[in-house]
Amino acid sequence: MAFKLPVLPYAFDALEPHIDARTMEIHYSRHHRAYADNFNAAIEKHPGLFEKSAEEIIADLDMVPEDIRMAVRNHGGGYLNHNFFWQVIGPDGGEPSGDLKKALSEAFGSFGEFKQQFEKAGLSRFGSGWVWLIAEGKLEIVTTANQDNPITEGKTPILTADVWEHAYYLKYQNKRADYLKAFWNVVNWKEVEKRFTESK
Ligand SMILES: [Fe+2]
Repeated sequence: MAFKLPVLPYAFDALEPHIDARTMEIHYSRHHRAYADNFNAAIEKHPGLFEKSAEEIIADLDMVPEDIRMAVRNHGGGYLNHNFFWQVIGPDGGEPSGDLKKALSEAFGSFGEFKQQFEKAGLSRFGSGWVWLIAEGKLEIVTTANQDNPITEGKTPILTADVWEHAYYLKYQNKRADYLKAFWNVVNWKEVEKRFTESK
């Protein structure tokens, strides 16, 4: 039982013009696939771990045998992070509503202020990594390096933006700020709201 590359829930060009089709194709078909393949290759050395979910493994890296722990952290993290990322983005965009909108206003002052802080966090993450919205009672923004996922720290992410250069370089080159501004057009707020409700 290998960890499968999930089907992308929309076409490569569905997020145009904000995220271009070529970037999506390479990101999913090459980067995400490579994380899945390398994750499986590592787990094959300790196949008992195939009985666990990727979430369970990344949430408890200490139980992963040391000889594969770094590979699992990097490639298992890459596998899981992209699984999550494709779910919380999509073609519809829009804005949050209901309880999530209220919680964002309570935590950050307003939806606009939340967006600014999220973009700023994504910009200040040096090198490769991710910026996350975490639901922990009160909402908070955190970043992680490389392919680390906040669930390893016991946190519950409900939204993320991939700030690796492979996520934006073809269209935005070095302008991560422009990519993060465009990101708001492709957030799947329905999915984020669902995850927010489940976190309570
Ligand atoms: Fe990525």
